Amino acid sequence: MGAVTELNYMTGFGNEFATEALPGALPVGQNSPQRVAYGLYAEQISGTAFTAPRAHNRRTWLYRIRPAVMHGRFEPFPHPRLHSDFGTGPVTPDQLRWDPLPLPEAPADFVEGLFTMAGNGSPAVQQGVGVHLYAANRDMQGRYFYDADGELLIVPQLGRLRIATELGVLEVEPQQIAVVPRGIRFRVGLPDGQARGYVLENFGAPLRLPDLGPIGANGLANPRDFETPVAAYEDLEGDFELLAKFQGHLWRAPIGHSPLDVVAWHGNHVPYRYDLRRFNTIGSISFDHPDPSIFLVLTSPSDTPGVGNTDFVIFPPRWLVQQHTFRPPWFHRNIASEFMGLVHGAYDAKAEGFLPGGCSLHNCMSGHGPDAATFEKASTADLSRPDVITDTMAFMFETRFVLRPTVQAMQAPHRQRDYQHCWAGLKRHFDPRA
Ligand SMILES: [Fe+2]
Repeated sequence: MGAVTELNYMTGFGNEFATEALPGALPVGQNSPQRVAYGLYAEQISGTAFTAPRAHNRRTWLYRIRPAVMHGRFEPFPHPRLHSDFGTGPVTPDQLRWDPLPLPEAPADFVEGLFTMAGNGSPAVQQGVGVHLYAANRDMQGRYFYDADGELLIVPQLGRLRIATELGVLEVEPQQIAVVPRGIRFRVGLPDGQARGYVLENFGAPLRLPDLGPIGANGLANPRDFETPVAAYEDLEGDFELLAKFQGHLWRAPIGHSPLDVVAWHGNHVPYRYDLRRFNTIGSISFDHPDPSIFLVLTSPSDTPGVGNTDFVIFPPRWLVQQHTFRPPWFHRNIASEFMGLVHGAYDAKAEGFLPGGCSLHNCMSGHGPDAATFEKASTADLSRPDVITDTMAFMFETRFVLRPTVQAMQAPHRQRDYQHCWAGLKRHFDPRA
């Protein structure tokens, strides 16, 4: 066997990367030579339509020990907690919030530990998202996974993940994210023994960096801070299993070798990681709080210009200097739907109850905003000096369509059934004579 374990990365977002774990493994000047070096097979994986515009076209050429077609027959793999069945019945417009997903008591790897919270659209029509949590306490052992339904944006909250993919190995810790493209096979190890976090499963167009408009050529998430692993392969034979998420359900096939056997590759349909602490946060230096689109990290565009299928937004440490302004996020209602999570610290619009590892859901046109304690404090704060928000990292999966919570999310013991009480203490201040 020849497992390469040193972690090296190439920088840049959406680049045409080229990398080889053995010298000369990559063909020069063509993709599919009659005979590939080292006796490798050539194989392409397409992440967008063949004819997608060049700027958005994604595909990778793989040079591997065995082609991906080699595995046994797929059979259903029971995993009722993970699915894409978001129902068609009534959806409560209530504001919803949950405590952290409890860590598993029985052994559970990354895939076994996935728990679907909500979603919209469907893998069948390639739009919408699934929103999942994971809580795991063991490595994926002899097991590999791919998701044909969407790309996976993984947001660790507790514990590191070592994600060995067909294209190389990447490691992420809380306050970093990893994105695994649609179809790429991978295995997750837990260097810290346990892990918990959030997963956005994007059925739509691949996530990309947003345009910056008047902000200019730099700012928000900068392309050079995205890191893609170099080629690293496993040459392993044994009784392994390949799990697939396909059209909302899991399938299992026996496989007699590691599918992470790609010795060299080139292309742009690639996994990557990004450190959220490198986000160049931009905000108001005069008055008022800008729309949260200023905090956009990655977006999956829809067919309607300016409307994301899903957006990944963060609320990182930042200075608040606005004058004659209510500085926390304002009360609002939104045509988009907002699933929020907290990776680290506290979120500045909630005094209590929104815990690291917890989450909230504010659907289309459901009012939300600071809780009563935050409102009273910020309304009377001294604005002659700046506030600094430190030691925090909240995020939002924002979607065009309503996020339909799953039955298991609504019935979960850790759902905070008294969440709406956080606004009950908002006092009446109205005085028509004032
Ligand atoms: Fe909101």
